[in-house]
Amino acid sequence: MNPLIDRIEVTTGDITTLHVDAIVNAANESLLGGGGVDGAIHRAAGRRLLEHNRQLGGCPTGLAKITPAFDLEPIGIKHLIHTVGPVWHGDDALDIGANDDDGALASCYDTCLTLAREHRLASIAFPAISTGVYRFPKPRAARIAVGRVVDWLGNNGHPRHVVFCCFGADDADGYRQVLSSVMSDTGA
Ligand code: APR
Repeated sequence: MNPLIDRIEVTTGDITTLHVDAIVNAANESLLGGGGVDGAIHRAAGRRLLEHNRQLGGCPTGLAKITPAFDLEPIGIKHLIHTVGPVWHGDDALDIGANDDDGALASCYDTCLTLAREHRLASIAFPAISTGVYRFPKPRAARIAVGRVVDWLGNNGHPRHVVFCCFGADDADGYRQVLSSVMSDTGA
């Protein structure tokens, strides 16, 4: 069995309730909040997050910025990592990306994991970045997400544990199928 399997978890629910060192926010370039998981994290972290982010000057697509977790700290979350996923421009029917949407999404995972390593975080949870308002096809996004995380964990000791937090059971099933396939491809 591939030892990495013990470092990756797929779960279903609200990412703001997870007991991990950092949760990733699927933000927009302003970093000033929005709907979806961005709205949930800003509501849970409280007004101090918005006041803090006003001084950050935003974040380009594909990159990430780390902040305190504010009102989420009492449940053990130390940091929030805000990343900006690409808006899907591709052709859903043909499942063909455009404007390097795939590369930008992969960059989100890489930059979040790099920040987690720099801050020596033990655990990090990702939502399904770009698959809501930004319309990225879920299966395609899951393949990119799992691929980048497995590649990263194979070469890095931090973070120790990565959680894919899906908002729905169907999404979680999709991630589990991709993870199982990747693990078998890597000789699990
Ligand atoms: N916990 C975990 N996952 C969640 C939560 C939550 N509380 N709320 C939503 N999700 C899931 C969605 O079901 C979707 O699968 O997060 C995924 C990403 O969806 P969005 O939050 O819509 O993010 P995204 O598609 O990246 O679009 C970002 O939406 O909310 C705005 O300000 C945000 O402009 C930005 C854009």
